[in-house]
Amino acid sequence: MAQQEEVFKKLVSHCKEYGFVFPSSEIYDGLGAVYDYGQNGVELKNNIKRYWWDSMTLLNDNVVGIDSAIFMHPTIWKASGHVDAFNDPLIDNKDSKKRYRADVLIEEQLAKYDDKIDKEVEKAAKKFGDAFDEQKFRETNPRVLENAAKKTELHTRFAKALNDNNLDELRQIIVDYEIVCPVSGTRNWTEVRQFNLMFATEMGSTADGALKIYLRPETAQGIFVNFLNVQKSGRMKIPFGIAQIGKAFRNEIVARQFIFRMREFEQMEMQFFVRPGEELAWFEKWKQTRIGWHKALGLGDKKYRFHDHDKLAHYANAATDIEFEMPFGFKEVEGIHSRTDFDLGSHEKYSGKKMQYFDPELNKSYTPYVIETSIGVDRMFLSVLAASYHEEELEGGDTRVVLQLPPALAPVKLGILPLVKKDGLPEKALEIMNDLKFEFQCQYDEKDSIGKRYRRQDAIGTPYCITIDHDTLVDNQVTIRHRDTMQQERVPIVDVEAIIREKVSLKVLLNKIPS
Ligand code: GAP
Repeated sequence: MAQQEEVFKKLVSHCKEYGFVFPSSEIYDGLGAVYDYGQNGVELKNNIKRYWWDSMTLLNDNVVGIDSAIFMHPTIWKASGHVDAFNDPLIDNKDSKKRYRADVLIEEQLAKYDDKIDKEVEKAAKKFGDAFDEQKFRETNPRVLENAAKKTELHTRFAKALNDNNLDELRQIIVDYEIVCPVSGTRNWTEVRQFNLMFATEMGSTADGALKIYLRPETAQGIFVNFLNVQKSGRMKIPFGIAQIGKAFRNEIVARQFIFRMREFEQMEMQFFVRPGEELAWFEKWKQTRIGWHKALGLGDKKYRFHDHDKLAHYANAATDIEFEMPFGFKEVEGIHSRTDFDLGSHEKYSGKKMQYFDPELNKSYTPYVIETSIGVDRMFLSVLAASYHEEELEGGDTRVVLQLPPALAPVKLGILPLVKKDGLPEKALEIMNDLKFEFQCQYDEKDSIGKRYRRQDAIGTPYCITIDHDTLVDNQVTIRHRDTMQQERVPIVDVEAIIREKVSLKVLLNKIPS
């Protein structure tokens, strides 16, 4: 774990050094849990968004997109339940004066049991080698069983406290399990209190009677309130979906782990409207489609797992998270929720406007049920980067840092490098660049040795580089160098566009997603 934390630190500084992510307002010492994306970060982020958007709107002829405003009528947040219930249970340590989420402290305690079990398994695997039967070991080893039992016991108690909204019990668990503050090391805790996560501001001047409004904490409500606008103007028939990408804001209590938990972040959400009674079948379908979307990236199937919710929100009848193995453990990247007819029903109640759909096949009106898929762009960005970051030892004692990004997501697709800065090679390279730049992101670089230039492209994840040398002027061929294998091949200039386009196209990824 310590080694993983070390890698994570390196990743964070790599993000800054190579123009992926900067702390916001850095010259003023930053602003907690707010980040800016740099020149390479924005390209990677846009590619992730494009991959998601196309997977929703191109691959499904019954999913369309919208872009709703961040500011919305304040009653929307009353109807959605956010004003009354969008809270986190917080607890303070009286010695360090640090604030924590009580549920997160307990989840970390739960993860410790898993770590202990994994260590036992690892130790035994080393000891017994090929003869090791992991499943049998997990089922019979007394220390594994003891830790598994402790985990179940804590888990049951924790789930009940969450379901009962019992803040005293959450505190009691922290006390009983002797959970200490990571900063002061003490158990001197305050009571657990609820803390609303929405940012509020005012619209209009105070003389007019300003309206208290909220920065949206999720993009989903913009979809719900536009449900009938889209359905009618697009003559959509149920089942159909509405997708949206946009900023969301949460006043997170514990904002840690870089861009994993931010106060301003971006979501990609899709609400899929279905007939009542059909929602759980659609829930299963979207679970499979979404995990397929993640796995198509080739970051490693073992890095994903589903985590079903212990505590279902009062409006949900099924919910799961897709978790990704970050350097700090398996963490939620996406949520898939069966939200019943709660949101549309509640907006109907609060607005007094009908939110129903007339189903011509059933010849009746009803409030549709909704399956939601909700993924954070920034968390996705972090998972892609974390899985792609590699430090490699090369022959001759050299080392390189390479981002093995899926080519379709890489900020720059092609590095264009004249071997030397003279003899007409830069001119030839720029001629090629001016032709290819209409197709994909290219980067021209003539500074330093070719080796150093390759390293710079490796560090930002450029999947291909072409080198223009003296022979190019004669035979109209260039050398393509592959980022991951570092292998090189000679190809005619006229073929470069087709070769690269085929490899970096989003189509390759989209084709791998199960329909
Ligand atoms: N509309 C449902 C909804 O907002 P959520 O589980 O609260 O559900 C969905 O959020 C996704 O948004 C999460 O899986 C995560 O990827 C992302 N997300 C939530 N809070 C975040 C934060 N503070 N920083 C970065 N991403 C966040």
